[in-house]
Amino acid sequence: MGERWQAVDDYIAGKLLGADDALATTLANNAEQGLPPIDVSATQGKMLFLLAQMAGAKRILEVGTLGGYSTIWLARALPDGGSLVTLELEAHHAQVAQTNLETAGLVDKVDIRVGPAAEGLAAMTDEAPFDFVFIDADKQSNSHYVAEAIRLGRPGTTIIVDNVVREGGVIDAESDDERIVGTRALFDMLSDNPRLDATAIQTVGAKGWDGFVLARVR
Ligand code: SAH
Ligand code: DHB
Ligand code: MG
Repeated sequence: MGERWQAVDDYIAGKLLGADDALATTLANNAEQGLPPIDVSATQGKMLFLLAQMAGAKRILEVGTLGGYSTIWLARALPDGGSLVTLELEAHHAQVAQTNLETAGLVDKVDIRVGPAAEGLAAMTDEAPFDFVFIDADKQSNSHYVAEAIRLGRPGTTIIVDNVVREGGVIDAESDDERIVGTRALFDMLSDNPRLDATAIQTVGAKGWDGFVLARVR
């Protein structure tokens, strides 16, 4: 089915997204610079853009920049005067992302911070509240990142967590893959959490079978 999922994503993107020089250049530059091709898909990027606009987000927080592909989609959703902070462990990834954001004309809106996200988040208290948080880094830390997103949010803040289905791996309670263990810990902390309303949606497409958590801070 994978080929057909890809073909349908291509169809949707052809109809609804159109050509996009900055994003095409970003993906080409990422490949040239040796970054792994694990950015969100084009249709998912457009969804992030729409959700951030629907939320009226003026302050966006991203955990896991890579080459800034999702960052570009999110930053484009910001109104004049809006801003986005994105946290990235790898200096090389951050450097490539900075170049890509320059290409996209978004450097004035985006602040890339290099280092472990847990440290970046801990140091961010003065910058709260954020209106919209996209979490897409090391999956073993997802429950911590969501706890931090709640702390740095406000009632109504939107939280999205990428890659929570992993070809169905999420239901493997015996898994010793730390990403699966981390994702299950995320669902445990979301379950009956008094601070959030949450769901998770499975997806198929250019990136295979996966899914995302969508949550709103109470
Ligand atoms: N959001 C990006 C993809 C992110 S890939 C997009 O869709 O375009 C995951 C990124 O998280 C990688 O660049 C990886 O280096 C980064 N990462 C991994 N562990 C991290 C950590 N502890 N703190 C911050 N970033 C981390
Ligand atoms: C991986 C990470 C991602 O954020 C993603 O969207 C796909 C794969 C990974 O670490 O393998
Ligand atoms: Mg991801």
